[in-house]
Amino acid sequence: MITISPSLLSADFLNLESELKVFDNQKALWFHLDIMDGHFVPNMTFGIPIIKQIGKVAKHPLDAHLMVTNPLFYVESLKDFNIHNLTFHFEATKHHDSLINKIKKHYPSVGMALNPGTSVDLIPDYILEMLDLILIMSVNPGFGGQKFIPYALLKVEELNRKRVQRQSNDKFKYVIQVDGGINQEEAHLLTQKGANNLVAGSYVFDKKTSANYSDYVDYNERVDSLRRK
Ligand code: DX5
Ligand code: ZN
Repeated sequence: MITISPSLLSADFLNLESELKVFDNQKALWFHLDIMDGHFVPNMTFGIPIIKQIGKVAKHPLDAHLMVTNPLFYVESLKDFNIHNLTFHFEATKHHDSLINKIKKHYPSVGMALNPGTSVDLIPDYILEMLDLILIMSVNPGFGGQKFIPYALLKVEELNRKRVQRQSNDKFKYVIQVDGGINQEEAHLLTQKGANNLVAGSYVFDKKTSANYSDYVDYNERVDSLRRK
């Protein structure tokens, strides 16, 4: 089953707990936390105190996506907040091996994200083997609600090819996650190419329909639609 990771960046920040509760009965769902520092990307989102609160009430695994220039600081700061997967950006460090090992000490799963312009070929096999998840960015990171970049599909295909070729190697079982501009149509194409974890923000928490909370779209229906063939 494809895991769906609703991005809380598009949730209603004034009602976060009730926003999370809506997904209580879902299976294979992670909550995606976009952590930005205003340096690696121009935008800022929520910081450590809010993530701590989310960790106390969330009923699904937390998936933290660090869009920051100093990932090591966050690896240390977030380690007690019940985060399942911690993803850093390839472009944020020269020390991939050492950062991955530090994350592994405190988190069950470690991910590495690639900006749209970063090639999959830059990650050697010995680093791929250390990762639980590779995140292919299908928008330039920093903001929700952007348009999907189609060549992300080629990168997913390439990563999937490597995974299939080395399927006898137990260490080559990484999750292929994609993030940015995903709606039902993109979800279908991505899963066909081998993606097995999809982040979706504005599509799931679509508030365009009304300014009235009770009139929002059915978030669970949106999640289910991303899995529909
Ligand atoms: C963008 C973030 C995404 C974003 C996705 O920098 O990493 O997680 O919230 O939002 P949508 O689905 O609206 O593109
Ligand atoms: Zn993200």
